[in-house]
Amino acid sequence: MKVVTKTGSPESFATEGFVAGVFADEEPDSSVLKMDKEMGGHLLAAIENEKFRGEPGQLLLINTLGVVPAGRVALVGLGEKDKADEESFRRAMAVGALSMRKAGATRITTSLPTAFGDKDSYELLAQAVTEGAILATYRFERLKSEKSKTGINTLTLLAPDNKSRKELTKGVLRGTAVSEATTFARDLINLPGNYATPTILGAEAKKIAKQYGAKCTVFGPAEIAKKKMGGLMAVAQGSKEPARFIILEWMKGPKNQQPVVLVGKGLTFDTGGISIKPSANMEEMKSDMSGGAAVMGVMKAVAELKMKINLVCLVPSTENMPGSAAVKPGDVAIGLSGVSMEIINTDAEGRLILSDALAYAGNYKPDCVVDVATLTGACMIALGRHASGLFSNDDVLADQLSESGLETGELLWPLPLLPEHDEDIASLVADIKNVGPRWGGASTAAAFLQKHVKGKWAHLDIAGTAFSDKNKHYTRRGGVGVGVRSLVRFLEKRMGV
Ligand code: BES
Ligand code: MN
Ligand code: ZN
Repeated sequence: MKVVTKTGSPESFATEGFVAGVFADEEPDSSVLKMDKEMGGHLLAAIENEKFRGEPGQLLLINTLGVVPAGRVALVGLGEKDKADEESFRRAMAVGALSMRKAGATRITTSLPTAFGDKDSYELLAQAVTEGAILATYRFERLKSEKSKTGINTLTLLAPDNKSRKELTKGVLRGTAVSEATTFARDLINLPGNYATPTILGAEAKKIAKQYGAKCTVFGPAEIAKKKMGGLMAVAQGSKEPARFIILEWMKGPKNQQPVVLVGKGLTFDTGGISIKPSANMEEMKSDMSGGAAVMGVMKAVAELKMKINLVCLVPSTENMPGSAAVKPGDVAIGLSGVSMEIINTDAEGRLILSDALAYAGNYKPDCVVDVATLTGACMIALGRHASGLFSNDDVLADQLSESGLETGELLWPLPLLPEHDEDIASLVADIKNVGPRWGGASTAAAFLQKHVKGKWAHLDIAGTAFSDKNKHYTRRGGVGVGVRSLVRFLEKRMGV
């Protein structure tokens, strides 16, 4: 979908569909009132007759029968005015765009950002509306013989004048960049394990680098062994798919600016290994590379927006398989950090491969390191599907991340990381073991990661949020692409761009 801006007034603008918003129990805004006037009062009458109150998610679709240049009007509820934020607009636009697609429209229009924002918020609201439309109408059809023939090609954001149009255009560019980076991540997540192998993730990273002039280095099994990435090697030895360690570098910031390093778990399929998982829903474990897909998406968005920052993304990537050479419970691996790790449960593999990436991050003398991983079922039990777990050794960093999460609708919820969790992973034979007691599994996983970290660090556990079992707001069933938008927002905050 292309999103563009134009100047014009909704009641005189030709379009297949016009999407307008209404706050709960408030008078409709002037764009709706003007449209209503042109329609001889039928719009307000429909609102009245259908008991349309403007509740969040509420929809009223009206065919104008050609009385105005717009073929249809979709009124979408924005909820209560005092509670409205960027997320309300994202969700409302999702409802509007999906209803228009269902009605068969290919070119639609809205004035949502300018109808409700003041000049200062035009840009942010235009971004939110762009995101809502692109993300909601996403479809994954790569492996279908028959692809959908129709869909929305163009969304036009209407501005009353050229000055506001400029603001809208800025938001549209940002919104398009982060949404396309998110759908890029979704595609990789939805792509099954036999397609999205570590080799393919490496190739996708190279493509991003080539397209935007970033630097990409991909280590194969020989270099991984030479570098002594013992955690990644231990997990990879059970699979015949060769492992990859992917490095993407975007050093377009000031020379003296320390880079932010993002680390993403790139486990392309998690069977559990010898500690094999139950078969029910195991197919969803193709999504165990969602963290890797997210950080690659962040790199794509940052490059697309030509952000003047220094950013490094690291993705350790392998399958976790119970092959004949697979790592066994009780085996000990020595990671790049030099820490020896007893592998009690081969299904706690994410922390093993991340340990090497976290240690490798130290080479960049980073400002901070943030890792993103579908790490523990325990985090999913604790927070459900609505928020990711947030662990950090630095309060400022944690606050910047939570704020970014709140603003982008990708909630990050702080969870504890205590000295006691270190005791929980003490091993009899090695420095640490890869599982703790049954309780507090998300925290002991974080404690394990922390052993390989120097400096400011945060860990996002996206086990519950990376993959969706239903269509909700602008999220589709399958890969969510969570992390892309919140981390781009975080980089803007942290690096002042
Ligand atoms: N990839 C899983 C975590 C996961 C579970 C992600 C459900 C998404 C949905 C991870 O590798 C794993 O298996 N973790 C184990 C750790 C345990 C053995 C300590 C878990 O959470 O069960
Ligand atoms: Mn696992
Ligand atoms: Zn896993």
